[in-house]
Amino acid sequence: MGTSEWISFPEGFLWGAATSAFQIEGAVAEDGRGVSIWDTFSGRPGIIRNGDSPATACDHYHRWREDISLMAGLGLKSYRFSPSWPRLQPGGRGELSAKGLDFYERLVDALLQAGIRPNLTLYHWDLPQALEDEGGWAGRGTPRAFAEYAGRMARRLGDRVDLWATLNEPQVAATHGYGLGVHAPGRREGRKVLNQVIHHFLLGHGLAAQAMRAAAPRPIQVGLALSMDPIWPTPGRPEDLEAGERHWTAWNDWWLLPLLKGEYPARAWEWTGADVPEVRPGDLADIRQPLDFAGLNYYAPYRTTADPKLGPLEFARAPIPEGAPRQDMPGWEVFPAGLEGLLVEFTRRYGRMPLYVTENGMSIRADAPGADGAVHDAERVAFLRDHLAHARRAMDRGADLRGYYVWSLMDNFEWGFGYEQRFGLVHVDFATLKRRLKDSAHWYAGTIRANGFQAPPPPVLESPFLQAARAR
Ligand code: FCB
Repeated sequence: MGTSEWISFPEGFLWGAATSAFQIEGAVAEDGRGVSIWDTFSGRPGIIRNGDSPATACDHYHRWREDISLMAGLGLKSYRFSPSWPRLQPGGRGELSAKGLDFYERLVDALLQAGIRPNLTLYHWDLPQALEDEGGWAGRGTPRAFAEYAGRMARRLGDRVDLWATLNEPQVAATHGYGLGVHAPGRREGRKVLNQVIHHFLLGHGLAAQAMRAAAPRPIQVGLALSMDPIWPTPGRPEDLEAGERHWTAWNDWWLLPLLKGEYPARAWEWTGADVPEVRPGDLADIRQPLDFAGLNYYAPYRTTADPKLGPLEFARAPIPEGAPRQDMPGWEVFPAGLEGLLVEFTRRYGRMPLYVTENGMSIRADAPGADGAVHDAERVAFLRDHLAHARRAMDRGADLRGYYVWSLMDNFEWGFGYEQRFGLVHVDFATLKRRLKDSAHWYAGTIRANGFQAPPPPVLESPFLQAARAR
């Protein structure tokens, strides 16, 4: 790749790694933990690849001390995790369970002792089944219960945790869980109900943010982790650009405008017609709460392309360009410039605000220790290096990026894919639960230590939206 350059990050940049409760904890029936929608859903035959069971996962519930030592060894500045809601409120409401609290208090205390700043996401998809039985996110009971839970958590942990996200990827939780039925609770609802679910996720965020700020014993930072569609229309094709712009309005703005401005995008609302959700008086004011930061999760671009057969709310995806690198998740192209584009485009459209890349990472199914006992994941090293190089350039171009979290700290239960898709910096042998640092973990540790790395200069690939804006 010819010359390479030193890419350095500002002092205090928050280098992290992320996990979520259901994907790593195991111990699903211990210490009074209740049942979550993911326990129920993954128990249905044929749902999880290879019939994998999440019951043990990485056994983090018992091995958390070892896991914190690994993090400390990597030099992580921050660890993003989610507590398990049904461990804290088995039925989704009421007092927090003493055993549940005890686990997360010890975890947080040990992180702080190791000099690692906790970044806590309250909802990473494991809704207590009892709430789903009442209608789940399709009803208003769940957002209310979530806010109550969030307030209780902030009261108990807000003295030690200052970075909080309400929801993880509510976009995916809504579409995959209540639209496509491929995630828990596995429902296949029509547009109207799906829009109601989206509204209730937004409402849950807003009510929770208020409850958390009211309850925390000291000021905390509240945001959420979003999976925006990283729309990348084909450059030079005006019809694709138009479709991409429409896609942005109908999907990304549908989430971001209520959060930031307390309104749904008017044009998209018109296109939606009778399928718009019920919005009660006061809801939008409740949803629009100050965001201390936005978390962006990025894996692969969405190459929106025009298709005259589709209505204004539907989008076609262009095939992955021939020869483009891919990761092992089906349909996920490796496109590091997309991260720069997303950060810059987010800032251009919604204004400058503190941002974190709350997830970015690569799945390599074949990750396994070689004869030398090491895991040589050179592609992941390149993936992280290239995405970070683009993220760094986005900062030069005005994005207020404060930190970056690799998904994931360790191989774990990848939802419907079970243990087949490996995203970790740390390899987990699911037969023995042995942890082993991959080459990427060593590279990341070195990067954190030096606050930078050596890399080929990233290609200049301007987002098609910006190209068009410039040309105007
Ligand atoms: C994201 C999820 C995370 C993990 C990665 C691969 O959508 O937030 O839990 O599954 O994808």
